[in-house]
Amino acid sequence: MTTDQKELRNALGQFATGVTVVTTSAEDQEPVGVTASSFNSVSLDPPLVLWSLSKTAKSMPAFETSGGFNVHILAAHQTDISNRFASSQGDKFDGVDFSTCDMGFPLLDEYAALFRCKTHYQYEGGDHIIFVGEVVEYQTNPLPVLIFHGGKYADARPKLKKEDEDDVVDLLSGKFTENYLLYLISRAHFQTSLPVRKSYIGQGLSDQEFFCLSLLSMNGGLSPSMISDRLAHTGHAPDNEIFERLARKDLISQEGGDTGDISLTETGQGVFIELLAQSKALEEQLKKHFSEDEIETAVRFMKKIVDITGSDIPELW
Ligand SMILES: Cc1cc2nc3c(=O)[nH]c(=O)nc-3n(C[C@H](O)[C@H](O)[C@H](O)COP(=O)(O)O)c2cc1C
Repeated sequence: MTTDQKELRNALGQFATGVTVVTTSAEDQEPVGVTASSFNSVSLDPPLVLWSLSKTAKSMPAFETSGGFNVHILAAHQTDISNRFASSQGDKFDGVDFSTCDMGFPLLDEYAALFRCKTHYQYEGGDHIIFVGEVVEYQTNPLPVLIFHGGKYADARPKLKKEDEDDVVDLLSGKFTENYLLYLISRAHFQTSLPVRKSYIGQGLSDQEFFCLSLLSMNGGLSPSMISDRLAHTGHAPDNEIFERLARKDLISQEGGDTGDISLTETGQGVFIELLAQSKALEEQLKKHFSEDEIETAVRFMKKIVDITGSDIPELW
């Protein structure tokens, strides 16, 4: 590549795009796929899209002859998939979750959007061939998309509209908008904890009992007063009645007398770990909707709120 070509490529890189993996199959039915950021929309009526492939790409013969292709718009968490399909080496599909569509082309399990296309035109485009496809079917998943800009992967973050930031709370009318931060924090808490809460309530455990199991799983043995102190901020601090109930269910055991340390029994540990696994699985699902950057920011933000509003609360860790 000449210096002029590098400069042109850098200038073109200022155009931020999404990232796609385009798949098809070779004459011997082997799955074929390539990472492409040259994808774009062309027409709604008829529904046409385009992308271009280097004439030197190994996958060129397959795309020229297969009669169609599947375009997968990658989600923000799929940089590994992008890198894998951008390499000419090895079996690109090894370890990748995919099925095969009725045309015999690979369909990746994960994507932010999918366009199944029939090849409509193929145009000469210098050192590339431009493929125009007619969309025969499409699907979307509500996931944040992967961005490619300046030769690097990036995350898309929608800008807040200015009016969204103003007048969140109106004390005259007693109304607030959906951007009221404290409302959002507490609604997010209720919504994210509801599935696990339903599970433990379904198992006959109260909030107090669940928080007690959770604290003991984190800390090991603690005296009754330490447990109550550490859970005071939840508004659900357990009392002796709760400890007795948990002991009757064989979920906790107490050393010595009434003030002796309380620990989880094996059964109690098992019950808590199952609920924790459910919570962890929910977190994994939720995280797919955010970029790494957003998650890191959210963790820092939440920790800071916890610190500011709970400086008097004993540390769990
Ligand atoms: C983010 C990204 C976008 C890319 N976009 C294109 C593209 O639009 N067209 C193309 O020919 N190659 C593109 N490439 C390079 C191909 O993915 C790469 O050359 C790949 O090895 C081709 O596979 P093949 O040789 O097995 O056909 C891109 C690579 C990356 C990382």
